[in-house]
Amino acid sequence: MEHTQMTRRRFTQYLAAITASAVVGPAWGQSRPAGQTANGIMDLPLHETDQGTGAQVNGHFVNGECWLDDAGNRIQAHGGGVLIHKGVYYWYGEHRMGPVKQVDGKTVQFAGGVSCYQSTDLINWKYNGVALAASDDPDHDLYGLRVLERPKVIYNEATKKFVLWLHVDKKNYGYARAGVAVSDSPTGPFKYIESFRPNGFMSRDQTIFVDREGRGFHVGSSDENSTGMVSLLTDDYLKPSGKFQKVFAKRFLEAFSFVEHDNRYWTIASGCTGWKPNKAHSGVARDMLGPWEELPNPCVGPNADLTFGGQSAAIIPVGPANKTPIAMFDIWRPKDLKTSGYLWLPIRWQENRMIIDRQPTWPPPGMKKV
Ligand code: GAL
Repeated sequence: MEHTQMTRRRFTQYLAAITASAVVGPAWGQSRPAGQTANGIMDLPLHETDQGTGAQVNGHFVNGECWLDDAGNRIQAHGGGVLIHKGVYYWYGEHRMGPVKQVDGKTVQFAGGVSCYQSTDLINWKYNGVALAASDDPDHDLYGLRVLERPKVIYNEATKKFVLWLHVDKKNYGYARAGVAVSDSPTGPFKYIESFRPNGFMSRDQTIFVDREGRGFHVGSSDENSTGMVSLLTDDYLKPSGKFQKVFAKRFLEAFSFVEHDNRYWTIASGCTGWKPNKAHSGVARDMLGPWEELPNPCVGPNADLTFGGQSAAIIPVGPANKTPIAMFDIWRPKDLKTSGYLWLPIRWQENRMIIDRQPTWPPPGMKKV
């Protein structure tokens, strides 16, 4: 992009990245020697060099681009969320740069598992590797040709464990389950436990959230995406407790994200149009189990009716009393998901609703420090 410029440091990293001969790829089970086939799958050398776009303005990321980590590689944390633990931000997400292989004559990119990055300023991100690896067993929930989406991590104060939930599905999205993994460390490795349909109901786009009393919740789109479902988790956050509430019934919302502010819980969600952007929705409640009041699209200004081209992923609680949280959106590029971009926008509050303006960069111009 002509109007953008990289900082000197970024530029050096960028140069280093494009001249590196080896590709930095995710940890990937045990790979077979090149050329060897198993289950009709032939390993190919790893994908092209990972140089990303690197677009920056005065050291700020260009919103909508696929941003770069400290090493100059494209950040692979799509559909993700941020955990704040001991003053460090951990960003988990879909690693969309698994190995490229030949399957039945077609070249396909496998899912790379769940990535973990860390930062102390929400701007400079260090890659910690794959926190939850994909599997090369076609019968496993985490098989790289299945759907591994929207991973989120919460910390359990009592067990001292980090708990990861993600949407696991089959290619046709008919499995509709939530998968759970656990780790002693925020950076993993996470140990996969199991998947299920929470309370017996379908669960697609999903997230997890801890309320002000330390209760854990899983929220997913159930009943063929028509209705949200909030499930109270067991004290260890590893399973639904059995107490749940259907919310936003028949509103066809997905991609729920949550933040607490002013003694209330707030959500931003999207409509259901697959990878295509649609109008965002919002809502507010005194309790995660509801009742939830639906509020208008929080986005305002040009292209607000299409969420500026994005879809909600999560909200990062920032500022005293979460006064200036950051809404994380994905700009999906379904033809090449690893190039999908990030759009992070501060939320402001006006007359009992959330307002989000499009900003050209993250952080927005003028904001120096998070
Ligand atoms: C979206 C969903 C994404 C992905 C996509 C597949 O609605 O939010 O996470 O599942 O559909 O089409």
